[in-house]
Amino acid sequence: MCGIVGYAGKDNAKNIVINGLKRLEYRGYDSAGVAFIDSGKLKVYKKSGRIRNLEFELNRDLSLPQVAIGHTRWATHGEPNDINAHPHTDCTGKIAVVHNGIIENFTKLKKELELKGHTFKSKTDTEVIAHLIEEEIKTGKDLFKAVLSAARKLKGSFAVAVIYEKEPDKIVCLRKDSPLVIGVGEGENFLASDVPAFLSYTNRVIFLDDNECAIITADKVNVFDLNGNIVTKEIKQIPWSIAQAEKGGYKHFMIKEIYEQPKAVADTISGKLSMFAGQKAALLKAFNKIQIVACGTSYHAGLVGKFFIESLAAIPVSVDYASEYRYRNPIIDKNTLIVAISQSGETADTLAAVRLAKERGAKVVAICNVIGSTITREADYTIYTHAGPEISVASTKAFTTQLAALFLFAVEAARIREKISPSEEERLLKALSEIPSKMKAFLDKESKNKTVHNIALEFYNSQDALYLGRFVNYPIALEGALKLKEISYIHAEGYPAGEMKHGPIALIDEKMPVVVITPKDRVYEKMVSNIEEAKARKGKVIAVTNPNCTEVKKLADYTIEIAETEELLYPFLTVVPLQLFAYHIADFLGYDVDQPRNLAKSVTVE
Ligand code: AGP
Repeated sequence: MCGIVGYAGKDNAKNIVINGLKRLEYRGYDSAGVAFIDSGKLKVYKKSGRIRNLEFELNRDLSLPQVAIGHTRWATHGEPNDINAHPHTDCTGKIAVVHNGIIENFTKLKKELELKGHTFKSKTDTEVIAHLIEEEIKTGKDLFKAVLSAARKLKGSFAVAVIYEKEPDKIVCLRKDSPLVIGVGEGENFLASDVPAFLSYTNRVIFLDDNECAIITADKVNVFDLNGNIVTKEIKQIPWSIAQAEKGGYKHFMIKEIYEQPKAVADTISGKLSMFAGQKAALLKAFNKIQIVACGTSYHAGLVGKFFIESLAAIPVSVDYASEYRYRNPIIDKNTLIVAISQSGETADTLAAVRLAKERGAKVVAICNVIGSTITREADYTIYTHAGPEISVASTKAFTTQLAALFLFAVEAARIREKISPSEEERLLKALSEIPSKMKAFLDKESKNKTVHNIALEFYNSQDALYLGRFVNYPIALEGALKLKEISYIHAEGYPAGEMKHGPIALIDEKMPVVVITPKDRVYEKMVSNIEEAKARKGKVIAVTNPNCTEVKKLADYTIEIAETEELLYPFLTVVPLQLFAYHIADFLGYDVDQPRNLAKSVTVE
């Protein structure tokens, strides 16, 4: 998730684009750049780090361009540095491109273009777009037609804006599976990945749909389909403040990020099949045990990962709190693989665990959401999650994308170690590919029916809460409890339901909400008896279950229905209502949900 901004008008396009990029830094902030045409020459400025680094560079340029495009980056391909920052140019240096999304077939396109004599400067997927347009312009096409032809060769998700030295008055842009909006002004027009970029100039907005493109000049905006046919678009009036717009109209980043999970999981799944080929595959074959190290929510993802890997690849897995791992004497040998999970890639305890393991000769695979972060630099291999920037301290979309990366890793290890048949692999990957739409269906239903919202209204004055799950959903009970604790400050405990009778059942009375995770899986019957035990102690039972689980629905005081799926994949669906439950309770209590007390988004100290 990056931020794109463009401007065509009478004012200094550089300043307007820089201000717009600052408004979009919540979409990515590891590097930034701007391109514009000054006295007939294309100029490109780009810098790694926050936008102020770029601004410092740009302030030395005194030109007053009236057309410019800009980009603030959240790296997916290629380290955050000055070269990989956008805009990217072609061999002639006359075409500049900014892009948000992932070009899945960029490796193949790059090879074809290199065979035609193109030279590439960056490690990004984006740069192929500039060279593809160059190829089309060589055939005599104008910029608009060249962009359309190039777009037809791209696979993946892309929002793109392009300027060309020979057509200095316009910006050509297009979108497919990545957002792009156009701001309509008086004698000036804007484009951006999101409305906050230009809301202080205009709130008249054209929302581009997938497979649409536009030519933007100072005095007009024309929208077309990818065959070049004119498309009539409605101009919408946006009633939001800038702060509201940055949250996409949501009240908090946390609820926005909960609703971003279907796309984040889909982006994390896409392009990841056969991530371990050749030497890496041999590596996966060689290991006879895996140690997962992580903290907080990432640790809970690791616990789910243990179920995935042991069930599918039959490799023994231990999961440690990194803060404990570094002080116990972990038995590591050359056949031990360490999997370090971290959203930020900067968590001190997880880093220290990685360094300890490496000192003892282990190989480390990191699962991380931030390209270029310390853990990705110290690990031998990194599997990236594509959650985009996670602003809210309470981790939600990073968690479900970590589950996606762990599941793909487990299927891959099972395939390489011949623990699953090709048809089983196909069945599992198909089930995984259906998860984003099942998550979306649940969230859309919740927006309409407010089931979880209304249940939360019943419990926001609770002093305590108990979360129970079994098998692959026991870690989800832990995660649900953590979410409630960290943003509503209500004491909550997650427990493997089978443990209840060994102690926590003593906590249950008529004031105790007991959240039970009970999909129709191999432990369903056991969970039903646990619900009966809780009901026998007058506990208020909130059940996350499937529509056809009649016994549970009869027993529970409140029911939240989720779709059916493979039993190993239920955590993707069972965690979402628990995230929402915690969110609504914290919101009802009036807390700053995105910045809870005593917590930091990335814990870089021991
Ligand atoms: C989760 O909501 C918290 N923000 C916290 O527990 C977090 O998961 C933990 O600090 C680990 O962070 P990391 O994934 O960036 O390493």
